[in-house]
Amino acid sequence: MEDIEKFLFKFKGYYFNRLPLDIGFIENLDNFEIRENDVFIITYPKSGTIWFQQLLSLIYSEDHRKGAGKLETMDRVPFLEYNFRKMDFEERPSPRLFSTHLPYYLVPSGLKNKKAKIIYVYRNPKDVMCSYFHFAKNVVSQFTGTFEEFVKQFLEGRVMGSLWFDHIKGWYEHRSLFNIQFMTYEEMKKDLRGSVSKICKFLGKGLSEEDMDAVVRQATFENMKDDPLANYDNIIAIGYGLNVKGHFLRKGTIGDWKNHLTVEQNERFDQIFQREMKDFPLEFIWDVN
Ligand code: A3P
Repeated sequence: MEDIEKFLFKFKGYYFNRLPLDIGFIENLDNFEIRENDVFIITYPKSGTIWFQQLLSLIYSEDHRKGAGKLETMDRVPFLEYNFRKMDFEERPSPRLFSTHLPYYLVPSGLKNKKAKIIYVYRNPKDVMCSYFHFAKNVVSQFTGTFEEFVKQFLEGRVMGSLWFDHIKGWYEHRSLFNIQFMTYEEMKKDLRGSVSKICKFLGKGLSEEDMDAVVRQATFENMKDDPLANYDNIIAIGYGLNVKGHFLRKGTIGDWKNHLTVEQNERFDQIFQREMKDFPLEFIWDVN
């Protein structure tokens, strides 16, 4: 039970992962200067962040679409709070693309003035929890307990990203402060091309059919898994200094929770979900069908 907590850093009620963190930067986040044409992907961990980082980069970079550049996706769409490469964000040319797991109340105040565009991506939380269990255990190796122990930690919010319910509800309740588009992991999975069109429309980016083909082709699970610039196998080893057993791109499916949760765990989860989400008209897809 202690495992994960010793890797966490709590700031203003929110758990960060301590290892790749510059605490001084976090304390000053509010003042980080936002530009009008910055674009942010915001997610709770394990909701498909890496996928949207790849998509954003492909949409914005012709180099990337043509397979010409040799940058890792993490360097094209870096995390704001986990600056693995110690990049100077001020020096980055516009439009800058960022990703973050921050809750609505910790993001730079420039975002609250509707400066910049945000895509908030969410995924059904049972799949998030299962993906998170494998990540914590096999990728960052910060958890050694059982699945049941992880379920408890997740449902108590004692993980990087804190409580899933608080994250999504916070962003949804405060959406009018931001220039934000909500999207789901599952809609991407069911219709990748249609979802890329939706993203492009929100971002005001027109892509030719040929460019669209290149984006979709390079953002499939199979392609990303085999692409060392997109799959983060290196980044995790660098950022966390760990011997990585598992992969960020693990299964990439909808409904894997059915292979993990017992009937009792599922009922417990449903009860909490219904209580927490009853006033939130967000749609969730729990199953491929
Ligand atoms: P699984 O562990 O269920 O496979 P994040 O980047 O937020 O940590 O999310 C990681 C999850 O997104 C993993 O889920 C990963 O496999 C999935 N994912 C990443 N790229 C994907 C893609 N192109 N298609 C489908 N799922 C993808």
